[in-house]
Amino acid sequence: MRKIVLYIAASLDGYIARPDGSIDWLEDDVYKLEGEDYGYNSFRQTIDTTLMGNNTYKVVKEMGMPFPYQDKKNYVFTRSSHPKADFVEFVQEDPVAFVKQLKKQEGKDIWLIGGAQLNMQLLNASLVDEMIITFVPLILGRGIPLFAGGVSERKMKVHDVSTYQNGFVQVNFKL
Ligand SMILES: NC(=O)c1ccc[n+]([C@@H]2O[C@H](COP(=O)([O-])OP(=O)(O)OC[C@H]3O[C@@H](n4cnc5c(N)ncnc54)[C@H](OP(=O)(O)O)[C@@H]3O)[C@@H](O)[C@H]2O)c1
Repeated sequence: MRKIVLYIAASLDGYIARPDGSIDWLEDDVYKLEGEDYGYNSFRQTIDTTLMGNNTYKVVKEMGMPFPYQDKKNYVFTRSSHPKADFVEFVQEDPVAFVKQLKKQEGKDIWLIGGAQLNMQLLNASLVDEMIITFVPLILGRGIPLFAGGVSERKMKVHDVSTYQNGFVQVNFKL
């Protein structure tokens, strides 16, 4: 069965964004490593679908660049109705029920982009098969956590660890 993979970057204290949702700290010049994409392009080839909460979708849209996942099937979860938008399908269904069905369909793996609310709900339902988390050696102190409040305790296995010259540490966790 196709896997759900959370591929995401986090500060070393476990935040994925500042309290206002910004992710500028990921692009800080101090972390620039010429020619290094942290496995992003090869990961992208393994997936054909993305999952996002509406808050994450809004951040992506406001980045001021063409929508980055145009070649994928993109689902955005929301509790309200929205006019049709390019490249994404809004889903008002419960993410857990929807993703259970999606996993049964034929296809490549599925990228859980985030954010915290969606990550928490899918992890609690045991629907996240793998997590590839790139830790940035930065303490943000506050912000939006990797998993929203209400996430259940869960032991994960470390499958692989990659370290980079800029201090990034990428850990591949499996259930
Ligand atoms: N560091 C990284 O690599 C990375 C990656 C991804 C995201 N992020 C950050 O994560 C932040 C967003 O995280 P977040 O936790 O605030 O929000 P989120 O999980 O992206 O989206 C939350 C929204 O999803 C919808 N939603 C949640 N549960 C639902 C349900 N059961 N049924 C239907 N819709 C549901 C709701 O949308 P409506 O309000 O429309 O109802 C809710 O407000 C952003 O700032 C983004 O930058 C960072």
